[in-house]
Amino acid sequence: MNVLIIGNGGREHAICWKLRHSKEVTDIFCAPGNAGTASIAANVNIAPTDIAALLRFAQEQSIDLTIVGPEAPLAAGIVDKFRAEGLRVFGPTRAAAQLETSKSFAKEFMKRHHIPTAAYEVFHSGESARLRDWLNDCNYPIVLKADGLAAGKGVVIAQDSAEAFRTGTDMLKGTAFGDAGTTLVVEEFLEGIEASVFALTDGNRFVTLAPAQDHKRILDNDLGKNTGGMGAFAPTPHVPSETLADVKIRVIKRCIDGMRNEGVPYTGVLFVGLMLTADGPKVLEFNCRFGDPETQVILPLVDYDLGVLLRDIADGSLQLNRLPLHDANAVCVVMASSGYPDAYEKGKIIAGLDAINEEEEGILVFHAGTRSDGKRVLTAGGRVLGVTALAQGSDIGASIRLAYNAVNRIRFDGAYYRTDIGRKAIRS
Ligand code: AMP
Ligand code: GLY
Repeated sequence: MNVLIIGNGGREHAICWKLRHSKEVTDIFCAPGNAGTASIAANVNIAPTDIAALLRFAQEQSIDLTIVGPEAPLAAGIVDKFRAEGLRVFGPTRAAAQLETSKSFAKEFMKRHHIPTAAYEVFHSGESARLRDWLNDCNYPIVLKADGLAAGKGVVIAQDSAEAFRTGTDMLKGTAFGDAGTTLVVEEFLEGIEASVFALTDGNRFVTLAPAQDHKRILDNDLGKNTGGMGAFAPTPHVPSETLADVKIRVIKRCIDGMRNEGVPYTGVLFVGLMLTADGPKVLEFNCRFGDPETQVILPLVDYDLGVLLRDIADGSLQLNRLPLHDANAVCVVMASSGYPDAYEKGKIIAGLDAINEEEEGILVFHAGTRSDGKRVLTAGGRVLGVTALAQGSDIGASIRLAYNAVNRIRFDGAYYRTDIGRKAIRS
């Protein structure tokens, strides 16, 4: 089976790496990929949103399975277009991807299907008077969310009605997040620990991966700006098997059954962002793709042929009820360019990669923003590497030590990383 992976992050390198272990997979292409994917697959210089060129490539190279990494091509309908041409593709259709691309769609869907989530109200452009009245009458803090995709920046937590009204009207007018914000979801502020559960589904059946936790803030102790994610670990002890069973019944099954019954069957990966509240798990958001960096810790724990699994899902014939997982845990420490998530420099030489014996040490160095320049590897993005360590059993301390031991031997000008990845698992 020839496989095409779309994207260029750590997520895509991790997918490539797992597919290299598949008995069914022959050639792997990654569009556009990075220096890491180039070492185990063939990079193809096509942008993830150039759907016409991707389609042509898949036809010319007889691609048997295309796996879509980021949300932008899903939102643009890549799955619909590939299927219309008879090509096998892993991911949701444009209509099903609305679970991520429209927060109001997701909230109204959850309400119809009794999926636990924060109480909310939706506002449209021109409704600032109703917004003002509504905001005068609620508890603070409160959460404002732009309806559409806003590159992870569309959520604002407001401390009082004046701040909420200012932010909310900026969104409705289109000055805050452009068209993405002209519909607005205002929702109850939830307290608790955040965790992510990933389900793989063919629209009927589903299996779950190890529950994970991300570290979204740039600084230690979850301080500073939001980022795409500075590290992750799995499985998280904050989602024990009883909690996972509850999430499967009250969230994932209701979601997949609900989408199918409404005539928009959801296939691919369903990424459920949860707040573990005193009243049980509640959905913060759905994403229609694998998380990054979560994928770097959840895929190495899978004890099954990923090529077979994703092919069966794309064919609508998932064979499993439960996905076999290794009795192990994983921690990923992201090494970033100094300045990230704001402006940063690129083109720094990365040293020390060759001195890491991945197999012997239980380390996987997944590349994100890197590119090769002859024999050298250079930085080419904000998040540069996801240094992932694996350890047997549930001793997350062991994988934390292994990961930082490797991080300390990798060098590039301005390398920045958090020093507390995984500590939340131990404190619990
Ligand atoms: P989202 O894009 O919806 O996941 O929101 C981004 C981040 O905002 C989440 O990871 C949470 O940290 C925070 N957040 C979103 N919704 C809520 C909420 N209802 N209560 C508290 N925090 C929230
Ligand atoms: N790490 C969070 C995300 O992929 O959205």
